[in-house]
Amino acid sequence: MSSIQALVRPNIINLKAYSSARDEFSGQLGVFLDANENPFGRLNRYPDPHQTQLKEQLAILKQVTAKNVFIGNGSDEVIDVLYRVFCSPEKDHVILCPPTYGMYEVSAQINGVGIINIPLDAQFQLQSEKILAANNHDQTAKLLFLCSPNNPTGNTLFAIDEVLQSFQGIVVVDEAYIDFSRTPSYLEKLQAYPNLVIMQTFSKARGLAAARVGVAYASEEIVQYMNKVKPPYNVSKLNQEAALEALAQEAQFQQHVNHILEQRAWLEQELKNLKLVRKIYPSDANFLLLEVTDANRIYADLVSRQVITRNRHSLVENCIRITVGHETENQKLIDELKKIKP
Ligand SMILES: Cc1ncc(COP(=O)(O)O)c(C=O)c1O
Repeated sequence: MSSIQALVRPNIINLKAYSSARDEFSGQLGVFLDANENPFGRLNRYPDPHQTQLKEQLAILKQVTAKNVFIGNGSDEVIDVLYRVFCSPEKDHVILCPPTYGMYEVSAQINGVGIINIPLDAQFQLQSEKILAANNHDQTAKLLFLCSPNNPTGNTLFAIDEVLQSFQGIVVVDEAYIDFSRTPSYLEKLQAYPNLVIMQTFSKARGLAAARVGVAYASEEIVQYMNKVKPPYNVSKLNQEAALEALAQEAQFQQHVNHILEQRAWLEQELKNLKLVRKIYPSDANFLLLEVTDANRIYADLVSRQVITRNRHSLVENCIRITVGHETENQKLIDELKKIKP
């Protein structure tokens, strides 16, 4: 048994995955009377269940093989699939490092998985010794979710290697915001760590939140287990086409990222001059976390002015998270903040 197999839920190891009609014949030409489809219409055929073209393009771009790529209906599905591959309900547990992306916790709860929280420290960095100590406790945590750059704090996590070298379970590094960061992706460490899963998404820098395309990069063995568990046609033809189209627009992608980064710098300068802003946390993402004088009041006041931000007071005291928008949107935010009592 491989070290990965030892972490997989026993019912998944032995699971015979659903074999769809399109699994049995993958050519383009032929008379398709196999899947009870309707012969009329534009979207009448089931999509490629393996998302072959998209995986091939991503493999070239990211210098991995297509067998290292898993595609989900957004990263949120990737998170859910990871729980279902590795964690037995009411038995297994995972480690989370709050404040962080909320779906790691919600998805654990949906799947009946226990949570050990090892919070980030005052600088929003990992407490790696505590993570490793928690893991050595009775039974291995099956998964550890690390988000870098982290949502909602915006910073890159520095001690991931330290944890990767010793952690016995699967280490999931969520890189939803990596394209806005100067720090390189952990993708280059995929070969070195068989227990590493990297998540990325088309929802942020690629501008496709509506399409729902999330990606996991991992060892072939892990990807095979994830494929067994996913619904057969989890990524629609429209999603796959939208993602392929986005990948073909590399120059525009770079231009948009640069524009967002320039706007982030502009917003930071403007926000610094406002009395109601107490602190702006450094960001490697497309958002800023601000400590303000009174997050609940200022958030509500902004809503009444039709500027919607994210109140993160429940996670980080008196903090609001602001997405970097288009320049007119950012200007509107600053104009309205100037009208609010500090
Ligand atoms: C860290 C992080 N991971 C994943 C997601 C979800 O991504 P997707 O739209 O691909 O489901 C988000 C969305 O805000 C996020 O902040």
